[in-house]
Amino acid sequence: MTTTNWIKLEIPSDTRNVAFARTAVALFASQLDWTLDELEDIKVAVSEAVSNSVIHGYGLQDGIIHMDVSYQGSELRIRIEDFGKGIEDLEAAQEVGYTSIPEERMGLGFTFMHEYMDEVLVTSELGMGTTVTMIKRVGQQES
Ligand SMILES: Nc1ncnc2c1ncn2[C@@H]1O[C@H](COP(=O)(O)OP(=O)(O)OP(=O)(O)O)[C@@H](O)[C@H]1O
Ligand SMILES: [Mg+2]
Repeated sequence: MTTTNWIKLEIPSDTRNVAFARTAVALFASQLDWTLDELEDIKVAVSEAVSNSVIHGYGLQDGIIHMDVSYQGSELRIRIEDFGKGIEDLEAAQEVGYTSIPEERMGLGFTFMHEYMDEVLVTSELGMGTTVTMIKRVGQQES
């Protein structure tokens, strides 16, 4: 049996595609031996990252989101990339409760990603876009 596998998805930036992206990644991830809670964690993290690309990266304008999902052994890697406006201060953006739209949002998306995944790496360039890479390993859940 192969211990590696991958999918690549390309979706238009659209809030309607957030649920698709979340479910597609969960279905792919189901090939590994997660608990139901861990699968829920993965879904939330994907929703938050894709929503951020739609809402902040593209500001609800047209755009494309690339998703690369793969596993090697028991390590799942999810990469979500947009080509939108980018993030000026990566550290500030990932602080709990930080949001650039305080009248509408909670500023908790990155907090959930960090909470639910084992590793989260964000890279970004203003005017070029943002890439979020998240890793989760089977069997790491704390009881
Ligand atoms: N893909 C992105 N492109 C541009 N800016 C982003 C992107 N993702 C996040 N940001 C910036 O980082 C901030 C923090 O993101 P985070 O997801 O933590 O909170 P939020 O999206 O503002 O609120 P919530 O996720 O609770 O709805 C955003 O307000 C936005 O300014
Ligand atoms: Mg968010």
